[in-house]
Amino acid sequence: MTTGLWIVLDHVAALLSVAAWFAAGVTLALRRTRLAPAVLVAAVLVTLLRVGTVAMLAGRGWWFVQEKVLLGLPMLGAAAAGAVLLAGPRLLAARRGRGTGWSVSGVVSVFTAAYAALAGLVVTFLVGYPLTLSTALITISLVCAGALLTMRVVAPAAEETAGGGIPLVLGGRLISRRRFLGWSGGAAALTAAGAGTGLSFLPAEAVTVGGGAGRSSRAAVSVADLRGPGSPAPGGTVRRHVLTAKKATVRLASGGEIDAWTYNGEVPGPAISAIQGDLIEVRLRNDDIEGGVTLHWHGYDVPCGEDGVPGLTQLAVRPGEEFVHRFRADQVGTYWYHTHHASHVGVHRGLYGTLVVTPRHGQRADGPAAAEQLDLTLPVHTFDGTVVIPGRDGRTEHPAPPGTTVRLRLINTDSNPHRIVLAGTPFRVAAVDGRDLNQPDEVRDVGLRLPAGGRQDLVFRMPGTPVALVVDDDRDGGLRLRPHGDGPGEAGVGDTSALPELDLLRYGAPAARPFGARDADRHFTLVLDRGLAVVDGRPAYAQTVNGRGHPAIPDQLVAEGDIVRFTVVNRSLETHPWHLHGHPVLVLSRDGTPSTGSPLWLDTFDVRPGETWEVAFRATNPGIWMNHCHNLPHAEQGMMLRLRYDSVTTPFGGAHGESPGHGH
Ligand code: C2O
Ligand code: CU
Repeated sequence: MTTGLWIVLDHVAALLSVAAWFAAGVTLALRRTRLAPAVLVAAVLVTLLRVGTVAMLAGRGWWFVQEKVLLGLPMLGAAAAGAVLLAGPRLLAARRGRGTGWSVSGVVSVFTAAYAALAGLVVTFLVGYPLTLSTALITISLVCAGALLTMRVVAPAAEETAGGGIPLVLGGRLISRRRFLGWSGGAAALTAAGAGTGLSFLPAEAVTVGGGAGRSSRAAVSVADLRGPGSPAPGGTVRRHVLTAKKATVRLASGGEIDAWTYNGEVPGPAISAIQGDLIEVRLRNDDIEGGVTLHWHGYDVPCGEDGVPGLTQLAVRPGEEFVHRFRADQVGTYWYHTHHASHVGVHRGLYGTLVVTPRHGQRADGPAAAEQLDLTLPVHTFDGTVVIPGRDGRTEHPAPPGTTVRLRLINTDSNPHRIVLAGTPFRVAAVDGRDLNQPDEVRDVGLRLPAGGRQDLVFRMPGTPVALVVDDDRDGGLRLRPHGDGPGEAGVGDTSALPELDLLRYGAPAARPFGARDADRHFTLVLDRGLAVVDGRPAYAQTVNGRGHPAIPDQLVAEGDIVRFTVVNRSLETHPWHLHGHPVLVLSRDGTPSTGSPLWLDTFDVRPGETWEVAFRATNPGIWMNHCHNLPHAEQGMMLRLRYDSVTTPFGGAHGESPGHGH
């Protein structure tokens, strides 16, 4: 069973235990002598079941259970034991016909167990990992306060009905002892809650060093000075583009019209291509996108000053302003660009385009294969709920004579993953995130998972029959290649939804890797979840990293040359496509199982619910880099942080109150 499923199961068990303990409390309070013992037993059993689900989750990783093991379960266990001891004997007696089973201590203790169960669940959903002393103190005091309040409600009821069998004197003594308990308990709960709240206001660490040194002797350099070269490599040319951001009404291939935000009035923006070694020079202008725009080169390891992150590597380009990017097209492969300002809105509305760099002598890195005869760049994007592929030219059918070599460059420009099936031909996944795989096997009848922001290049030789590219198992949409022109003749795509997913961690041939987990100079753990956190100064039900939201997540500090390892854990029930700027990461393992196929270098990897990924990279590109979830609304809701080289500073941080990735 997957960890994600165990997480769900544990939530269900936790919810059941809350329901069962409350039901036990209510039936007992209502003196349902027959029902109450049964419900109490059920509550105890569900509580034991939770011990089981938590134990299973613990086996998957401490991150999944820390708050449950250290706080939730002990608290519930203690309260449940108290409830059984205090309510049990009288209930047993009642079954034998002696009394009603009811007692103040019984009712209060059973309700306290219910509060403890509820508190544990709330802590899991609002706080998660890591548990802090402050959270523990506040939670325990709230449960105690709940118990005291319940006593205040139940005890007078005891007084009123005390005439029935219980001596008044005894009742009176009990009440006064309770009053004493109430005062001292209330004071203790208040003190603990106060201490907890106070602790939560302690300033957070601004930086984590991941086990490495905290400062360097290198001279400081500003990101503003980390710019690209002014000339191409020998033999290369300069590729000049002017991209003007503006609002425009755009007609979609599907027929509809959208009010888009565009580069040059087109969606996607102009396709930028280059040959390895060329210099790419793009002048970004802004006509009328009020909040501002930038250009971020997704997956392309440009010098940091070209990275296009407002408030970090530059200022956002406001209407009437411009910014010129220059960088060498040294990396071959499929990439894309998009605005990094208010990106959760801007990219969605159309501020993106493709970037493709091909080898200089028609040579691919893995051998002397000539460039493919049909080379299509296919950004997949959703407008108004409709998946649009490809974009601008609107063509979803292409002629491809049999024998043609074809490369389909898929780019996911959405915030959610897409499932891709290439029906009608065997093919190879030649490259992922722009980087060639080592000896990719020929596959067919498989589904490919394309993470948000990710790219995959599919290569094949055109057969004599039609080929269909199916997105999200929608057999009628997607793209068709026809061997004999544009004539009719359906590709006859079957149901693709049951095809197994290709696991890229076991695909292709292994090859020497430059480093492994043991070589890491620094190690950072990122636990992804939802929870209560401050995002940009406002409390929110945020998307969190280690319990915090942007910009309160500590910067990760690295030094040039370090090998840096990330452990990325997803405690939540949503997928998080993790994306580090400026560096590809080498996948080491997923859920503890090492990657055994071709070395896999990614810039965006999907961390699904319950998954744990280990990746590493070498810090060879000085700068301050965004490290975030590429589900852009998640990033907006707090799930982003910075990876900072120890010698690099920024003059743009906080300027104009800007925040990387989103606006106001
Ligand atoms: Cu494609 Cu920071 O993003
Ligand atoms: Cu996310």
